[in-house]
Amino acid sequence: MTDQSEETGSNASTMWGGRFSGGPNAIMEEINASIGFDQRFFAQDIRASKAHAKMLGAQNILNDQDVKSICAGLDQVYAEIDSGKFTFKRALEDIHMNVEGRLKEIIGEAAGRLHTGRSRNDQVATDFKLWVRDAIDEMDIALQSTQNALIVQAEAHTASAMPGFTHLQIAQPVTLGHHLLSYVEMLGRDRSRLSDCRNRMNESPLGAAALAGTSFPVDRHLTASALGFDRPSANSLDAVSDRDFALEYLSALAIASVHLSRLAEEYVLWCSTQFAYARLGDAYSTGSSIMPQKRNPDAAELVRAKSGRVIGCLSALLVVMKGLPLAYGKDMQEDKEPVFDAHDTVMLSLAAMAGMLGDTTFDKHRMAADAGKGFATATDLADWLVRVLAMPFRDAHHVTGAVVKKAEDTHRGLEDLTIDDLQSIEPRITEDVFEVLGVQNSLKSRISFGGTAPVNVIKACEEARNRFLKDR
Ligand code: ARG
Repeated sequence: MTDQSEETGSNASTMWGGRFSGGPNAIMEEINASIGFDQRFFAQDIRASKAHAKMLGAQNILNDQDVKSICAGLDQVYAEIDSGKFTFKRALEDIHMNVEGRLKEIIGEAAGRLHTGRSRNDQVATDFKLWVRDAIDEMDIALQSTQNALIVQAEAHTASAMPGFTHLQIAQPVTLGHHLLSYVEMLGRDRSRLSDCRNRMNESPLGAAALAGTSFPVDRHLTASALGFDRPSANSLDAVSDRDFALEYLSALAIASVHLSRLAEEYVLWCSTQFAYARLGDAYSTGSSIMPQKRNPDAAELVRAKSGRVIGCLSALLVVMKGLPLAYGKDMQEDKEPVFDAHDTVMLSLAAMAGMLGDTTFDKHRMAADAGKGFATATDLADWLVRVLAMPFRDAHHVTGAVVKKAEDTHRGLEDLTIDDLQSIEPRITEDVFEVLGVQNSLKSRISFGGTAPVNVIKACEEARNRFLKDR
């Protein structure tokens, strides 16, 4: 695609300049133009125009000859833009008028009939919805690919112990597979939010015209179904001024990017010398220009940071829309860039995350060693006291506290205490207790639905594949 031309001047007003005698000031033209970014939905603009033209023909508003030449001309414009031969003119403001202007050069007068019964207000809402719909479909595939990368690693680590954290303090042992599958669930909800958004937005604004509808006998149902919408939107004012679909898409992206930032932050921790749970391959590491020993997880840091940018895009559009009176206001031209930016940013973040996951080696021994640190199986001891000795949990908690203190004072792990040590605190404790102490025993016992036991995780991987990756 060629860049917008810098030209300004009298032809600026060809589309709407009937009542104007002078062309716009260059700064006016600069602030007014959206062609620099809305050229991104030229395909959607042309698709919607063809549907509109055919409908006008079907309703005998245009004759067949005009419809034919409009559609053929639009196909040519599409080919020119698609092949990069098109010269976008800033003087023509936006994609709608650039396409129509070129159509006029190609087919002449009939081009002027295309805009019958519509306005740029319903046109831009239609184009942008079509674009966001396509964007959602693309995003869904990217989310699914990252889910796939997570599941592949989870399958390799269904029994690999690692510390589970709360407050970033070692809490209870979990398996790495279980930990990674938690992100599969988050991304699954992101996909489900996108699908809700897609369903809700799928009403066609086309034919709402400027704001009030039109006196031409247009068939809005026909254009709606030709463009894959479920129905025409019910209210013309709402149709041209609704940007909920963009806000919802941005909200879903903001939440998804927050999920990615959490995983990214864990990567940064895991790749640090202090944790050393994970090692990124060369393909996803960067070096330092001064410290030769460094392997920096820059991509993870950037994914972490980019969520800020995506949240900013959502905030920007919320603030643009806040307090805007009905119906269309030029403010709404500001809807596109944050959506494009957030979309590109999340697509890149997902690709980077999937790439990193595929390029990571986890250090099982290191993770397992940490999993037992910090008396991580203390809850298992408390649960045993409740289960076997029928102690109230609060009392068991208290006894376990005393046991932890003894282990701590004598620099031992819980499983290293002797039965005498344990009985000196609670005489009813028997040898059986050792079956629940220790990391592997703890993991094995976590068989409640959704728990971290390796047998569960094996099943959970399979189930996640069925739920999320079936259509891959
Ligand atoms: N470029 C405009 C936008 O993105 C198209 C709609 C212009 N409508 C108008 N009445 N000036 O919002």
